[in-house]
Amino acid sequence: MPRTYLVTGAASGIGAAATALLREQGHTVLTADLEGGDITADLSAPAGRAALAARARELTGGRLDAVVACAGVARFEPVTIRVNHFGAVATLEGLRPLLAAGTHPRALVVGSIDSVHPTDPEILAAADADDEAAAVTAAQAAADRGEGHLVYSSSKAAVSRWVRRAAPEPAWAGAGIPLNAVAPGVVLTPLTRPLLDDPVTRALVERAVPMPLHGHSRPEQLAPLIAWLTSPENTLVTGQVVFADGGADAVLRGDRTW
Ligand code: NAI
Repeated sequence: MPRTYLVTGAASGIGAAATALLREQGHTVLTADLEGGDITADLSAPAGRAALAARARELTGGRLDAVVACAGVARFEPVTIRVNHFGAVATLEGLRPLLAAGTHPRALVVGSIDSVHPTDPEILAAADADDEAAAVTAAQAAADRGEGHLVYSSSKAAVSRWVRRAAPEPAWAGAGIPLNAVAPGVVLTPLTRPLLDDPVTRALVERAVPMPLHGHSRPEQLAPLIAWLTSPENTLVTGQVVFADGGADAVLRGDRTW
């Protein structure tokens, strides 16, 4: 049965691969990105987030069957918490009424293996409190003291924690909407290319994200999991952060976490 999806960050990388697979499966996919999609929206700011929800409502007549929040950046500065956490949560919350009117509705956000790396407690506390201004201040402070990398890990930890909290709530589970995260390891996309092209940062990445199964991944390897978690076949999996990382989480966190 063809479904209607909305994918953010669909112009590149994992979002583009998920869009291509869903279209191959016969579904309609509305794409959103900074440019070049069905919907142009900058998810780093409230105006773009509101525009996404309004335009999606216009284009769909108010019904969506699934949302994939994939838009993200890995810059060591405040925009990363704005897009990866606040933008993703606003995407899912803003489109939730459209999902509630859909058929077998499903929601998903792309997290990261970086969510298990060290984080900044102030950024996380501000994100948990839904205080974007405080999160941006804390992110700028981390960048200023040379710990900008914590902004990315914190953004992915924050959005993963939000999934854990929100999924069992009446608005999601109570409305029959599974809500999950997929957490990739290292994926070969424009986001990681600068890091992997430089031998020094490549060695750091390889140490931080060990991938014993098949090594670094291609975006097309994430797409089937995204498609399944957002399909009607997924009737039980919710509130999960599913690591699709070639074994990195198992190596990093061992046998005391599952
Ligand atoms: P990418 O750079 O290929 O694609 C990201 C897309 O998000 C781009 O099309 C970009 O224009 C869009 N985007 C960025 N800022 C935006 C904004 N303010 N508003 C709207 N759209 C915006 O990157 P990739 O690798 O496909 O990343 C997709 C998601 O996967 C991101 O959330 C990223 O953090 C996550 N991820 C990527 C990993 C990797 O190794 N590439 C590993 C783990 C997670």
